[in-house]
Amino acid sequence: MPKLTIEASKKYDMIIESGALEKLGELILSVEKPKKVCLVSDTTVYSLFGDIALDSLEDAGFDVNVIKMAPGEQTKSMSSLNRILEYLAEHEYTRSDCLVALGGGVIGDLTGFAAATYLRGIPFIQSPTTLLAAVDSSVGGKTAVNLKAGKNLAGAFWQPSLVVFDMDTILELPENRFKEGIAEIVKSAVIGDAGLFDYLMTVDNPRILDFVETCVIASVKVKSRFVHADERDLGPRKLLNFGHTMAHGIEKISDYRISHGQAVAMGMLAMARAAAKKGWSNKDCTLPIGQVLRKYGIDPACDHDAAQLARAALNDKKRRGDTVTIVIPLEIGDAALMDIPVASLEEIFRLGLEE
Ligand SMILES: NC(=O)c1ccc[n+]([C@@H]2O[C@H](COP(=O)([O-])OP(=O)(O)OC[C@H]3O[C@@H](n4cnc5c(N)ncnc54)[C@H](O)[C@@H]3O)[C@@H](O)[C@H]2O)c1
Repeated sequence: MPKLTIEASKKYDMIIESGALEKLGELILSVEKPKKVCLVSDTTVYSLFGDIALDSLEDAGFDVNVIKMAPGEQTKSMSSLNRILEYLAEHEYTRSDCLVALGGGVIGDLTGFAAATYLRGIPFIQSPTTLLAAVDSSVGGKTAVNLKAGKNLAGAFWQPSLVVFDMDTILELPENRFKEGIAEIVKSAVIGDAGLFDYLMTVDNPRILDFVETCVIASVKVKSRFVHADERDLGPRKLLNFGHTMAHGIEKISDYRISHGQAVAMGMLAMARAAAKKGWSNKDCTLPIGQVLRKYGIDPACDHDAAQLARAALNDKKRRGDTVTIVIPLEIGDAALMDIPVASLEEIFRLGLEE
């Protein structure tokens, strides 16, 4: 059973295993001793895996409550947060009880934020069921909801006590969702693991669990390196935002019809192209990034307007006064942060979007 350890202000494990959900209850008992467990999921995920998780939790002796949310990004909202918090209060949850997030990044971010704020913080467990959540959002402790003005504008750093990834859940994942995870894996490879990038270029059949396991382990290792160095996102952790400033703009102006992973793919290619045109990269990464994305059926072309994107992106938290931090690939496996004036962002986006 592969196990990774994430060392942030709190040290915790990520368990990566086929069938891990059947052991969810006993795995939780190895790190927390809650009386009550509130399982938060979305209706799609719950219909697929809810019973397995529930049986396991009940078999381990927990008093279990279930909250089912609507699937989709719109659920990452203040009203969903409010619903969870009021539910916990009504059911008299205490600081020694815990939340379990069973789902993708939406459920993980929302549940994590509820755990961070209820009674000023109670334990929570991440059980990711999308590739994107397994390789990225379930570790590192960033929790959030969206506000009208933009993505993730209200949130907290709050680490889970444990991450339980049942690889079998990925077998049910629709193809487009699978590709969104691939985009985040490509991101990890570009910023910190050239070997992972080479591996991605050689694989013939990605829809097998060996591939999933290899990519999750490699990506989480890259992420945990940056989280360990800079948990609160003041320095090197920002490298994980490669492609994300533009991506958040794309998501926002498409009213979240373009998914996070797809938007990240577009943002990465554009930033690689802009960095190459500006002479900031040691090697032009545009071609390999475009190639690897297309190999996995992801079209990174973006036809949004640079000015509109820059306006939307500037609501992003990555802005600091008159400057905004962007991530540029130096070569595959290495990236750097660069502070640019807010006024230059539109030009960078334009350079990135023009082939
Ligand atoms: N906290 C972080 O560090 C971090 C990092 C990256 C992304 N994110 C956030 O993650 C969110 C995106 O996460 P996501 O892509 O997992 O989206 P998601 O949670 O909306 O899940 C995508 C869809 O797949 C369905 N689904 C989930 N698991 C399934 C399965 N195994 N089989 C079939 N269907 C399944 C869900 O019901 C949903 O409709 C965004 O809000 C993004 O901002 C957070």
